[in-house]
Amino acid sequence: MATALTHRNAELLIVENAEALYRTAAEEFSHAAESAIAERGRFCVALSGGNTPKGAYAELAAQKKDSLPWEKIYVFFGDERHVPPEDSESNYRMARESLLSKVPIPEENVHRVLAELPAPAAAVQYEMDIRSFLHLPGGVWPRFDLIFLGLGDDGHTASLFPGSPALAESSRIVVANFVEKFNGYRITFTYPVLNHADKVIFLVSGRSKAQVVKEIFTSREAAYPALGVRPENGKLLWIADKDAASLLA
Ligand code: 6PG
Repeated sequence: MATALTHRNAELLIVENAEALYRTAAEEFSHAAESAIAERGRFCVALSGGNTPKGAYAELAAQKKDSLPWEKIYVFFGDERHVPPEDSESNYRMARESLLSKVPIPEENVHRVLAELPAPAAAVQYEMDIRSFLHLPGGVWPRFDLIFLGLGDDGHTASLFPGSPALAESSRIVVANFVEKFNGYRITFTYPVLNHADKVIFLVSGRSKAQVVKEIFTSREAAYPALGVRPENGKLLWIADKDAASLLA
């Protein structure tokens, strides 16, 4: 049984467990795809990395392999680890194995970060790829139909980590963000891109996220990077399983 809460213009949907989260996320992807394709002839979605979405992508492949017009779906990535595509840490590899290799999406519809390049070059290349694909003039922000995001137990999202330089970025679509705790770079969308999306969906699962979820939805002082995601003219939905929401009254 799902429970809905609203806070700070964000809807929080609490679902029974991880499996229910995967099904709900797959349904949300489907609905967003069908309406974007009906309105604009195509669906541009940015996938999240990490572990939580893997089950949702697999559910999507299982449920919608034959029922979505995959030739009209264009896949991007909200962030990427600074590793080559075959690396076990690669978000692209995770998405390929759980979804993209299981549905009839044309290879050219999948826009991955060339994370095998030096990080700054990978970020510039990805920004150019997005700008040319969307025919975006300089200074104009892309408007993705849907962006999936995750939540770290430190309150990071995409690769916008607490105290990292990318939090202050206001002119680039994609940057190479040096993350001290990894002593390395991540390539990530910036806040303006997340906040120009038509819809942003956070997928949050497990007890390890309960404290940060509680603070995000109850504390006025909380200042986690995930709280910087406030689509200006779009919808914001949090889907959390009962474990992740277990500290919310
Ligand atoms: C990444 C993600 C990151 C992720 C969170 C949550 O590349 O790791 O984009 O933002 O969503 O770290 O990760 P889990 O789902 O594994 O808890």
